[in-house]
Amino acid sequence: MLTLDKFNFAGKKAAVRVDFNVPLDKSFAITDDTRLRACVPTISKILKDGGSAILMSHLGRPKDGPEEKYSLKHVVKWLEEHYKTKVYFADDCIGESAKTLSINLQPGEILLLENLRFYKEEEKGDLEFAKKLAAYGDVWVNDAFGTAHRAHASTAVMGQFFKERVCGLVMQAEIENANKIMNHADHPFTAIMGGSKVSDKIMIIEKLLDKVDNLIIGGGMTYTFVLAQGGKIGKSISEPEKTELALTIIEKAKEKGINLYFPVDNLIADEFSNDANIKIAPKGEIPDGWQGLDIGPESIKIFSEVVAKSKTLLWNGPMGVFEFSNFASGTNAIAKAVVEATEKGGYSLIGGGDSASAINNAGYGDQVSYVSTGGGALLEYMEGKVLPGVAALQ
Ligand code: 3PG
Ligand code: MG
Repeated sequence: MLTLDKFNFAGKKAAVRVDFNVPLDKSFAITDDTRLRACVPTISKILKDGGSAILMSHLGRPKDGPEEKYSLKHVVKWLEEHYKTKVYFADDCIGESAKTLSINLQPGEILLLENLRFYKEEEKGDLEFAKKLAAYGDVWVNDAFGTAHRAHASTAVMGQFFKERVCGLVMQAEIENANKIMNHADHPFTAIMGGSKVSDKIMIIEKLLDKVDNLIIGGGMTYTFVLAQGGKIGKSISEPEKTELALTIIEKAKEKGINLYFPVDNLIADEFSNDANIKIAPKGEIPDGWQGLDIGPESIKIFSEVVAKSKTLLWNGPMGVFEFSNFASGTNAIAKAVVEATEKGGYSLIGGGDSASAINNAGYGDQVSYVSTGGGALLEYMEGKVLPGVAALQ
């Protein structure tokens, strides 16, 4: 794979696929700029070499053409502030203005195209659409790791129109960190899996059973396991149709001699609200009408001890409903434990949308080894799948 450091962009127009799919609030302010910050080294190198950058991305999942809340114009100000150069915006990714702006673009300047998903052709992987996008640049850079699991026009198809296809620094770092954790982990290796659904994580959990020494399961998916073991979960979130699967995971972990940890207690609430009444319930003893929204203090203690003894840590998915401040303690405590293990020389990779924002919210984003910009893409890569966006670079 041709990496960015090996390529001189002097005098070239680089068509750069980035993942600027960032969360916006109701007034269109960016609430987490991780993905924008991540791409700065890639784009800066292109500009510093004397090249220009034509940036293209999707934002959200627009259903039927342009929508204000999915417009990439909301990131223009951020780009101007962080690159201190002229940033042009084309309000139609394949319109006349995009063409003219790209032709007139000067070395050191940036052109951002409007949301590619405003055209159905993007997600369909349409060849003609990809060709139009490709026409803007002399060289293709793919730095959109977060979207590399999609076989879309801009992530996988447009590469074929270029002689030179360059792997961006984000893409490269993501691949290196994922490879490190899956192929070269120091032991003890502990994976902490959270989030609400077992069904989303089953593939990666099965893969991890061949790699880890300890597997900690927290978050909403816990209750499917507890249900499977005959425990009472009240009205906690669960997937009753996945209890067989949950038992299989428990069985496999036993066969492979892996230490499997579940929360021994939970912080429970009488409604799904930050202002709910709360109490602590032991595992499998949640009364009717109550639901688990975080792990309890005893679980925090046990999990933190396991984390503290680990040399490699993979964390995916929060321990509770951390968006509600009263149910963020479990997630924040795990974040703190991961940071402490990292300070002692351990390696830690935080991956998958929610855990990345959880660690950033807790203020520890820069104190772990690596925070992935990928959600689904990271999981699929670690499961061993070939990502179309990576394959297109090879
Ligand atoms: C993401 O945030 O998961 C990526 O940007 C890909 O977006 P998608 O899941 O809508 O394809
Ligand atoms: Mg996704």
